[in-house]
Amino acid sequence: MHIPVLTIDGPSGAGKGTVSRLVAKKLGWHYLDSGSIYRSLAIALLKQSADLANEAEIIKVAQAMALEFDCGDELVVKLNGEDITDQLALESTGNIASQIAALPGVRRGLLQKQQNFRQLPGLVADGRDMGTVVFPDAENKVFLTASSAKRAERRYKQLIEKGIDANLVNIMNEIEERDRRDMERKTAPLAMASDALYIDSSDLAIEAVVEEVLNLIH
Ligand code: C5P
Repeated sequence: MHIPVLTIDGPSGAGKGTVSRLVAKKLGWHYLDSGSIYRSLAIALLKQSADLANEAEIIKVAQAMALEFDCGDELVVKLNGEDITDQLALESTGNIASQIAALPGVRRGLLQKQQNFRQLPGLVADGRDMGTVVFPDAENKVFLTASSAKRAERRYKQLIEKGIDANLVNIMNEIEERDRRDMERKTAPLAMASDALYIDSSDLAIEAVVEEVLNLIH
């Protein structure tokens, strides 16, 4: 049975998470936040004091970790039974996630975990390589981006709202560093699929982006 997929790829802070969640809700589809899988692995590695330079050890931890996702209004993630939701959003988690995400064996090890989210009646998948590597046969693909200044500003607001201390200049630097790493890595770099719709959300309200994406589906 064919299961439709909508992929939304792009750099961090472009609004992929919010847009994907809203679109999934409107369509009644499942939602995959693939970044949270890399982030969960980062947390698992920190908890086990794993050697981040040892790819074989990282792959072992990736294969052993049991993840549970509860995609209600807010995403809740459990790692081996423990709620790690609060730690997921930290910039330090994102930075480690982006370092280990550059390792080909780690990406291979996490591929099936991501593809398992493809279930009826459909899936909205958000990440960096959803349309290029994980679901290349998706019939609807979007590449959502925004200027790095706008993305830093949004991330800053998100963190402050969550009560997490943040510094705008540091966030901007980290975002640019993470973009560079995500785009320059050899395996599954952040890139637009040739058949994706390009949306720049710098000057668009979330609702306008959601509408544009829903138009694509209909
Ligand atoms: O999207 P998010 O900021 O949560 O992703 C954290 C990191 O995980 C990214 O910087 C990226 O390096 C990695 N990632 C990836 N492929 C994906 C999703 C995230 O490499 N599909």
